[in-house]
Amino acid sequence: MLRGEKVILRPPERSDVPMFQRWINDREVNRWLITPWPMSLAEEERWYERITSSSTDKILVITTADGTPVGNLGLHRIDHRYRNAELGIAIFEKGYWGQGLGTDAITTFLRFAFDEWNLHRVTLVVREDNHRARRCYDKVGFVVEGVEREAQFSGGRFVNMVRMGILDREFRARHGDSAEP
Ligand SMILES: CC(C)(COP(=O)(O)OP(=O)(O)OC[C@H]1O[C@@H](n2cnc3c(N)ncnc32)[C@H](O)[C@@H]1OP(=O)(O)O)[C@@H](O)C(=O)NCCC(=O)NCCS
Repeated sequence: MLRGEKVILRPPERSDVPMFQRWINDREVNRWLITPWPMSLAEEERWYERITSSSTDKILVITTADGTPVGNLGLHRIDHRYRNAELGIAIFEKGYWGQGLGTDAITTFLRFAFDEWNLHRVTLVVREDNHRARRCYDKVGFVVEGVEREAQFSGGRFVNMVRMGILDREFRARHGDSAEP
C-alpha cells in the first residue's frame, strides 16, 4: 500500500474486475483515454491477467482514505535500463473529480517510482482539450515536451496529443525529498 495525503494506492485484485469493466465502459471517462471499448467481462479478465503478470507495467487502484475505490493509475513500458516509464491515470468515479485526488495519487506513485525504482524520467500523453488532466499534470510538475498533431481520431475529428514529461530532480525540487530518513 502507498499512502498519500488524500488517497491510498493498492494493488488490483481479481475481485475488482467487474468494477474495472463497469468503469472502462463509461464513455464520459474513456473518451479521454487511449483504450479499447466497449470491453466485455472476458476481455477485462484477459486485461487483468496480462497487466498483473507484466514486468513492464504496474497498475494500482486509487482509493479514498476510507478505502472507497475511485480509479486506477499505472506506469507502463517501465524500462530499468534507461530508467523511464509512461504514466496513465483515470478517476472513474466522476463525483471525485477536481478534489485533488488525481494530483495526490500521481505525486505518491512518482515519489515511489523515483525513490524505490530509481526512475529518472516519466512521460505521458494527454488530449490537448483535456483541460482538467493538463491542469492536474501541471500541478505535479510535468512540462510540455511536444505536440503530436492530429494524432487521435475521436468524436468525428482529429485531436492533437500533448506529450509531457517530468525528471526526478524536477519532481524533488517541487515536492521535496522522501519523508524517509
Ligand atoms: C485527469 C484526472 C485523473 C485528474 O484527477 P482530479 O482528481 O480530477 O485532478 P485534481 O483535482 O488533482 O486537479 C484537477 C485540476 O483541474 C482543474 N480543472 C477542472 N476542470 C477544469 C477545466 N475545465 N479547465 C481547467 N482546469 C480544470 C481543477 O480545478 C483542478 O485544479 P485546482 O486544484 O488548481 O483547482 C481525472 O479528472 C480523470 O480521471 N479524468 C477522466 C480521465 C482522464 O482524463 N484521464 C487522463 C487521461 S491523459
